[in-house]
Amino acid sequence: MNATINLEKNHFPVLLNELISIISPLYGGTFIDCTLGQGGYSKEILKAKSNKVIALDRDPDVLPIAKKIEKQNKNRFNFFNSKFSEIDKLNIKDNDLKAVIFDLGYSLNQILDFKKGLSFQSTGKLDMRLGLNQFSCDDVISNISEKSLIYINKEISELINGLIYSFKILPVGGMIVVVTFHSIEDKIVKFFFKNYSDKKNSSRYAPNVIKNNCLKLKNNKPIVPSNDEIKINPASRSAKLRYAIKTEENDNFNELHEKFNYLIETENLSYNS
Ligand SMILES: C[S@@+](CC[C@H](N)C(=O)[O-])C[C@H]1O[C@@H](n2cnc3c(N)ncnc32)[C@H](O)[C@@H]1O
Repeated sequence: MNATINLEKNHFPVLLNELISIISPLYGGTFIDCTLGQGGYSKEILKAKSNKVIALDRDPDVLPIAKKIEKQNKNRFNFFNSKFSEIDKLNIKDNDLKAVIFDLGYSLNQILDFKKGLSFQSTGKLDMRLGLNQFSCDDVISNISEKSLIYINKEISELINGLIYSFKILPVGGMIVVVTFHSIEDKIVKFFFKNYSDKKNSSRYAPNVIKNNCLKLKNNKPIVPSNDEIKINPASRSAKLRYAIKTEENDNFNELHEKFNYLIETENLSYNS
């Protein structure tokens, strides 16, 4: 059974309309799709002919999708088989960069792809490792849980570095948009956006220090899928979209590292065991 071909048609990009309405005022620029997957977001953004997309995905199996999009959008689409934590190494120089978009997690076809072994129903050896990773799940753990996938693919540090490096390459005024499906990931994104926006000391006795106020959070509450979307695509029910605008440069994100150091330590533990 070739799950990729069957599922490509039935792929529902999560919160697509919401994403497009958020970035639409910025139409006419370059957008980075950090998680190409089936290309749902990239294809929609490219419908506006003045837009360019630079896409990344760690999974080499998305290459045929990337090639197809490239063919249909000559000179407006570029793909890198790369992890988003390494976005700063790609030497992306685009003065027209408007937004960096993350749609975290995995496409249904990746989960159901027997070769990848992500699925708990899979009869293949449980691997859980996406492209560009050295170790398989069998190498490092024996007790499998849903969270293992996050740890095996080092997704905590991936996300933290992905956020920081995408911030660095974005010009002031550019937007970071993140869709999460897991509470650990949402916690990180929420902290990143909130901690580096409105960083006013709230105590009236302490000096009114304003620091690291380098983002403007656009919505305090996350945007979630409508009931209609959940009906069509039940897998979307845990999705949360958060976004913020870069308001000034900042190169000190120590608080973000410190806050989630306990998770990174767990990640390293599973690698070293
Ligand atoms: C939920 S899918 C994206 C779906 C896409 N928005 C669409 O509409 O088709 C997530 C994708 O992110 C990729 N991915 C996960 N972690 C990544 C990372 N650290 N760097 C780059 N790509 C990653 C996965 O391989 C997967 O293809």
